[in-house]
Amino acid sequence: MAILKILQYPAEQLHTIAETVPEVTGLTRTLIRDMAETMYNAPGIGLAATQVDVHQRIIVIDVSKTNDNLLVLINPEIIASSGESDYEEGCLSVPGIYGKVGRAESITVKALDANGKPFALDASGVLAVCVQHEMDHLVGKVFVEYWSPLKQSRVQAKLKKRQRSAM
Ligand code: NI
Repeated sequence: MAILKILQYPAEQLHTIAETVPEVTGLTRTLIRDMAETMYNAPGIGLAATQVDVHQRIIVIDVSKTNDNLLVLINPEIIASSGESDYEEGCLSVPGIYGKVGRAESITVKALDANGKPFALDASGVLAVCVQHEMDHLVGKVFVEYWSPLKQSRVQAKLKKRQRSAM
């Protein structure tokens, strides 16, 4: 297993559109294990392959407090959604920045699991928000990009300052 490097906003690769996984192979499962380890190590509750510069439609999520409920979504598709919610979101690619984005409250998502088996999942609350956030990464969208240009430039200034002080 390996800890992968997480791209930091505004890295241009975060805007790459991920490709459908044609077949779930041993290599896919190795990537998933590394993504999960990277997410738990960060620590975070979700990670999209895009964030580790692999442009395939793969997401790992664990919203449990005990870090023992890994959810793997390969080629996820939202097939139903309802309601509205605006949870405070954060992102491993945008450290230290938190804020709200309008999302559906409940979703049904279909995907393949780590064995390539199709399944459907009904999610609501924080899990539903997390799935929507991670699926945005797969189409090259970072949550702060829902915000106004002014707010986004403040985010960029704050991140630059953080990066300077980290050196
Ligand atoms: Ni994110």
